[in-house]
Amino acid sequence: MSSVAIIGAGPSGLAVLRAFEAARETGEDVPDLVCFEKQSDWGGQWNFTWRTGLDEYGEPVHSSMYRNLWSNGPKEGLEFADYSFDEHFGRPISSYPPRPVLWDYIAGRVARSEVRQYIRFETAVRWVSYDENTEKFTVTSAHLPTGKDSSQEFDYVIVASGHFSFPNFPSFPGIETFGGPVMHAHDFRGAEGLRDKHLLVIGSSYSAEDIGSQAYKMGAASVTASYRTSPMGYDWPDRFEERPSVVRFENETAHFADGTSKEVDAVIFCTGYLHKYPFLPEELSLDSPNNVYPEGLYKGVVWDANPKLFYVGAQDQWFTFNMFDAQAWYVRDMILGRIPMPDPAERAESMARWKARFEAIADYDDEIRFQGDYVQDLIDRTDYPSFDVDGVVEIFLAWMRDKAADIMNYRDYTYTSVMTGTQSIPHHTPWMKELDDSLERYLS
Ligand SMILES: Cc1cc2nc3c(=O)[nH]c(=O)nc-3n(C[C@H](O)[C@H](O)[C@H](O)COP(=O)(O)OP(=O)(O)OC[C@H]3O[C@@H](n4cnc5c(N)ncnc54)[C@H](O)[C@@H]3O)c2cc1C
Ligand SMILES: NC(=O)c1ccc[n+]([C@@H]2O[C@H](COP(=O)([O-])OP(=O)(O)OC[C@H]3O[C@@H](n4cnc5c(N)ncnc54)[C@H](OP(=O)(O)O)[C@@H]3O)[C@@H](O)[C@H]2O)c1
Repeated sequence: MSSVAIIGAGPSGLAVLRAFEAARETGEDVPDLVCFEKQSDWGGQWNFTWRTGLDEYGEPVHSSMYRNLWSNGPKEGLEFADYSFDEHFGRPISSYPPRPVLWDYIAGRVARSEVRQYIRFETAVRWVSYDENTEKFTVTSAHLPTGKDSSQEFDYVIVASGHFSFPNFPSFPGIETFGGPVMHAHDFRGAEGLRDKHLLVIGSSYSAEDIGSQAYKMGAASVTASYRTSPMGYDWPDRFEERPSVVRFENETAHFADGTSKEVDAVIFCTGYLHKYPFLPEELSLDSPNNVYPEGLYKGVVWDANPKLFYVGAQDQWFTFNMFDAQAWYVRDMILGRIPMPDPAERAESMARWKARFEAIADYDDEIRFQGDYVQDLIDRTDYPSFDVDGVVEIFLAWMRDKAADIMNYRDYTYTSVMTGTQSIPHHTPWMKELDDSLERYLS
């Protein structure tokens, strides 16, 4: 019997556990599984914490989520093919649920199986090494409540530790003279304190868009978003504007590349995250910008330099939960020997083909189609329930159009599930007016 270590019990790690469980249910012998999770519960980013910086054990806090975070893409884009929203909630719900509702959905699928027994909670992986002679990995972990270290050998390691937790935190001239709060989006926990304040967000991607919108919703006096490469370009409401790069701060005044300036009360760096795997030696560690085709991964999951190591969820994400499933089923089948591992030349040829296509991506529409084709390529090779991937691509394209048309209200729009055909219903309260993100209120 071989053995598999899974690092992380977020949506990606849980997808791997679910994939092996699905094989077990069909009578297959599956390897010994150990899933290491440093938090006390599953759900990864979706497991909200009020803490920032270090946790109660002095470990870096993992989740970057905040109060009143609602899904920023339609749930019809992330629905599991083997566990629908209808099955979980028993009735149609809206297309953009808040974080606790999505956490409940993620947990619901795994809670009804036996997979929790494989997870060692409050256990942080400290180091992974590979022995060429024995062809085994040694995983060293720390049980955080007791401080006890332990080491265990495994045949395979699956890295599912996420890549939106270590801030990319640049500096700007004069920022040290800024008197108000300065933080990275990773440490943002809610916009209530920004009422009547002038906020500057640096960045032009999802965090800038959503944290800026949260602040606006909670009554900020103004929101200014500073872009480096290109503006988000939405039709923002009054009190919300975009300006180019900050060139310097002078106390509370930010000076921008177009010669304008603005006095602000708080600065939030929405400058993205680093791929960082402090438990991996350099030769096993993915090193990539945040993109849809990180280098070094055959089929986006196999670490080409050592094909007994896998990554799940390492891509930038249009598709999320069902893409992690597609990856998990594929990795599972490679470990079970159902899918043979191609030789290095064949892997290199495949990676070169995907890379050429990746480099030809012209815009977001192309990027969505690229990721859709990638998901399709994986699910075609396993028994993961087939679903209309092109239909999901169309949902994402419609989402982009709807955002462009109505950036502050797009979360009130509804879409149709490709899994069940269910048309979602509008939430009982428009997103701009909804200040309670609890599951109870959502389902009331
Ligand atoms: C602010 C924010 C908002 C988002 N909103 C959405 C959204 O609306 N819709 C959507 O589909 N996606 C969203 N995402 C994307 C999100 O990354 C995915 O939905 C999903 O959580 C990724 O799952 P994962 O398991 O790969 O990683 P994570 O969710 O990050 O989980 C990784 C797990 O690994 C554990 N771990 C890490 N290091 C170790 C270690 N050394 N030892 C043991 N355990 C470890 C962590 O504790 C964590 O539980 C959002 C991301 C962020 C940052
Ligand atoms: N549910 C939600 O509502 C929600 C909310 C927040 C985040 N998220 C998720 O969180 C993930 C991460 O999103 P993200 O926006 O944090 O990261 P991201 O998508 O990687 O974007 C990083 C941004 O930082 C900018 N940037 C990087 N370095 C910079 C610098 N030195 N100066 C100025 N700008 C700089 C980039 O600009 P360039 O374009 O110039 O590179 C880019 O706009 C995504 O998956 C997203 O979906 C979801």
